[in-house]
Amino acid sequence: MKVLLVGGAGREHAIAESVARSKKDPELFTVMSKKNPGIAHLCKDFLIIKETDPQIIDYAIKKKIELAIIGPETPLAAGISDRLWDAGIPVVGPRRLAAQIEFDKAWTRDFMKKYAIAGCPGFKVFRKGEDGTDEFIDELGDVVIKPAGLTGGKGVRVMGDHFDIEGAKVYAKEVLKNDDLVVEERLIGEEFTVQAFVDGKNLAFAPCVQDHKRAYDGDKGPNTGGMGSYSDAKDILPFIKGSDYADAKKIMASVVQAIQKETGVAYQGILYGQFMATAKGISVIEFNARFGDPEAMNVLPILENDFLDVCSSIVNGTLDKINVKFKKQATVCKYAVPAGYPDDPAKDSIVEIGAMKDAILFYSSVYEKDNKIYTTGSRAFGVLGIADTIKEAEMKAQSGLSALKGALHSRRDIGTEELIRKRIQHMNELRAH
Ligand code: AMP
Ligand code: GLY
Repeated sequence: MKVLLVGGAGREHAIAESVARSKKDPELFTVMSKKNPGIAHLCKDFLIIKETDPQIIDYAIKKKIELAIIGPETPLAAGISDRLWDAGIPVVGPRRLAAQIEFDKAWTRDFMKKYAIAGCPGFKVFRKGEDGTDEFIDELGDVVIKPAGLTGGKGVRVMGDHFDIEGAKVYAKEVLKNDDLVVEERLIGEEFTVQAFVDGKNLAFAPCVQDHKRAYDGDKGPNTGGMGSYSDAKDILPFIKGSDYADAKKIMASVVQAIQKETGVAYQGILYGQFMATAKGISVIEFNARFGDPEAMNVLPILENDFLDVCSSIVNGTLDKINVKFKKQATVCKYAVPAGYPDDPAKDSIVEIGAMKDAILFYSSVYEKDNKIYTTGSRAFGVLGIADTIKEAEMKAQSGLSALKGALHSRRDIGTEELIRKRIQHMNELRAH
């Protein structure tokens, strides 16, 4: 089967590995904006152009692609999925109208309200240049300010973490100069991610994952694309209840139905729900129209099915005919990022890669020159440990990280017993009040 992958980060390396493991005699072709050495190694051919470039369609036709998989959000927002489908190539990755769930946060909150989707926090949408944010921020008291458009996970600011109420007002006005804006209630609790394969009607869910947005240990420092993530040997995480996971699944299924009603488009691809477990049950932080990065690296390597069977059932609308299963193992993925990331990353610095032994290495934003590997300004490598417990998986990930030599930083605390104890304690305290 000839498969096209769009995207070249750690998430896409995990997708490429899953394609390569397939028994369907896969031939992988990739379009990426920079050469990812890990992906290039698994490809029959690749093309270096922007991941939103319509030339992707010509390339897919020329290579007689039978199935395309879109990794990141930018090609979805640029309508690459629509163009591929229109050229007769089935795509894992929703059409633009359905992908709005990710690239327009204002649309999404209005949509949740219109279809009475559970878990929507108090919010108000403001259009570019509009007034009235001060009054609404005062009314809510504790707020999060979200630019409506794509910001690579770095545009959202949270009161208490990033600013006080006056700072929130200033930031809201700044954002409104260039973009629409959502002001919403700040949710207090613990975050978790649920990813699902979606064929237009049916959803097949992966285990819950917890990502870590902040750059430094103890959830300190600036927001990043995600510094690392873990999942447990069962579907849920130690700090959430089975009913939280069940509620998250219900919300995601109702989103898929409502998207079809609202846009006329069947949602085919990956749906990512980010939730906050709070004292009063779960709320929705956001939806993405793709796998998470790093969260793809947690779940894809433990998928028991042939990944291309799952992809085929997504594009054929037959996900209900296969039993999607994940190994009952815990995973911990840690990103090694350039020292100083995200504010002042050590770019163009050489990394030496030693033997991984017990860990799995995913290449992300690095480049190769004269047989040496260099950092860029973004996250460099995802290192994954898989084991029976989170603790053992963490140790494996950590041993993999120690084999990377260079000006790199990673979070020591992700997946440790101490961090998980803190998460459980936090939820217990919230639920007790
Ligand atoms: P997003 O880009 O929507 O994923 O937001 C980035 C981060 O901001 C999330 O991972 C949360 O930590 C935080 N965040 C977003 N919305 C809220 C909210 N309503 N309450 C509290 N934190 C939030
Ligand atoms: N890990 C967060 C994201 O992929 O958006």
